[in-house]
Amino acid sequence: MSWHVTEINKELISARAAAHQMASSIAKAMETPLKRIMMCRPTHFTVSYAINPWMDMRRGVNKPKALQQWDELKHVLTQAGAKVEVMEPQTGSENLPDMVFTANAAVIRGKKAYLANFHHAERKGERFHNKIFLESLGYKCVGSETIPFEGAGDALWAGKNLSTLLVGVGPRTDPNVLPDLRREFDEENVRIVGCNLIDARFYHIDTGFCPLNEEVAMWFPHAFDGVSQWHIKSTTNTIEIDDKEAKNFACNAVVVGKTVVMNRGSERIANTLHRIGFEVAQVDMSEFIKAGGSSKCCTLAL
Ligand code: ARG
Repeated sequence: MSWHVTEINKELISARAAAHQMASSIAKAMETPLKRIMMCRPTHFTVSYAINPWMDMRRGVNKPKALQQWDELKHVLTQAGAKVEVMEPQTGSENLPDMVFTANAAVIRGKKAYLANFHHAERKGERFHNKIFLESLGYKCVGSETIPFEGAGDALWAGKNLSTLLVGVGPRTDPNVLPDLRREFDEENVRIVGCNLIDARFYHIDTGFCPLNEEVAMWFPHAFDGVSQWHIKSTTNTIEIDDKEAKNFACNAVVVGKTVVMNRGSERIANTLHRIGFEVAQVDMSEFIKAGGSSKCCTLAL
């Protein structure tokens, strides 16, 4: 065999090996699809009004610290495997300090975004900016402009195939939105279930309930009335958190694959999650808690 042919063979062998490696990494990536998350840089974040029991205008927000905490959250989510789409603060959003809480922008299924129609006047202007940004990412935006509804802050996919949408109603979201959500997410197996939130401290469903995967969720049952507790328990297995953890926003956690990203300081539940196979990343969300939100509130699952 000439030198030439041997070299060509070697090249072929290494090309084949490279192709094989690429195929297996594509297969692996397909097994664990990247979680895409929308966040909004908190340039204009502050507490300049009070629309929930956590907000106290006398306690100032440390802005540089808030920016640092947000950067750290974004970093931890990226490390856990998420792809973060950042909405930069738009002209005209200077007086919308809560825009950082993108969980409230919309609830997503497939390529459809059902936009929030904020209950409080202070946040109504956010919808305009959220719509432009979500459309730029290719989402079809729908949603009532008359019935109050606060996006994924009040609507979480849970249970088998994540096909049940549990919607927190009462403080911010009007139960009259349920038929419209059913019409927009009209797919076989999709169920839309309203859950009554009864404790003013837990005014969005994502402050008292957190699906960890298709099988199990963590929750603070006392945030819900009895019938709603029953609906939740018949949708998913549950792990209960205590009052102290709930006040520390333990349920307001972001799940990326096997990583649960939550505010620091809830060791007991963090250990429980660890024992059942999750990794827990604790981040300091203290500046955002002054506005009544933690890690989950700062993210929207796309
Ligand atoms: N200050 C905001 C409000 O009261 C906080 C929103 C928290 N978001 C959430 N998804 N829980 O609307």
